[in-house]
Amino acid sequence: MTHYKLKKDHKHFLDLASLSKTEAREIIEKAKELKKAAHALNQSKGFVHPDAPLKNQSLAMIFEKPSTRTRVSFEMAIHQLGGKSVVLQNHDMQLGRGESVSDTAQVLSGFVDAIMLRANSHEALLEMVEYSKVPIINALTDFSHPCQIMADILTFEEHSGPIEGKKIAWSGDGNNVAVSWIHAAVLFDCELALACPKEYSPLEQEIGWAKNNGGKITLTENPKDAVIDADCVITDTFISMGDEDPDKRLKDLAPYIVDGALMAQAKSSALFMHCLPAHRGEEVSADVIDGPQSVIWDEAENRLHIQKAILMWCFGK
Ligand code: CP
Ligand code: NVA
Repeated sequence: MTHYKLKKDHKHFLDLASLSKTEAREIIEKAKELKKAAHALNQSKGFVHPDAPLKNQSLAMIFEKPSTRTRVSFEMAIHQLGGKSVVLQNHDMQLGRGESVSDTAQVLSGFVDAIMLRANSHEALLEMVEYSKVPIINALTDFSHPCQIMADILTFEEHSGPIEGKKIAWSGDGNNVAVSWIHAAVLFDCELALACPKEYSPLEQEIGWAKNNGGKITLTENPKDAVIDADCVITDTFISMGDEDPDKRLKDLAPYIVDGALMAQAKSSALFMHCLPAHRGEEVSADVIDGPQSVIWDEAENRLHIQKAILMWCFGK
């Protein structure tokens, strides 16, 4: 995948690989500040920030795939910052009947101030960027899921302090979430140890990009080797949206389940994270995901706070 080089006129949030280290860090710190402010206000979830920093700003949210967390967190985030959103499901749009991405991008640019897209293909996201006159946000593609990993970084730092120099372990499918972790290892200077079967390894090109940019990435087929002494253990579903051959995937990936025995290889202080939705008994055992090392509920809540910081960054606030 060619990493998109940001055009000067727009701040698109496409991938961590397109951001500078300073920009990525600023977004995390802004999210910490916004979370603190939201909790201090102690109001209902429908409150609007007293400064309404995104007053008069609008966001279109296009979903070509289902979503719970991304949809609700973005909708609440823009509302709490004083802006407005419109949710567009692919099947309700002309896009779903074959209208081109380029025409859709140009039309929506006349109605809203930013577009968030959850797309089947990363190419569609890049096409939208090419034709849009407003900032575009990647809300998951088949290639990456950068908003999620920003929330993960925030969650890690809340529980375990600065992520720089820490060891993050991934066991399972080398999917879109894993790719964004590969980018994050470079942007946040942490070590990333991935355990995946060969057939499910993350894209070689992304590992190459990370290594060329100073990333400390290791790849093994043995989950124990990856998890040993880790500060955080992560996995994701073995069957992502759009994946085929679910039975084969479940069989091939079964040895990569994060269970108590695997967690015991990590530091005793290690966190367990999962972007959700989860499948207990497949990629993670119930005792781990519902156990004391799991921080999945904070991780999910942090989607709200990080979306706010991402939106503020896109709008130059
Ligand atoms: N983690 C995540 O992106 O969840 P949703 O698919 O529910 O948005
Ligand atoms: N890898 C998963 C993430 C879901 C949030 C998928 O793409 O379906």
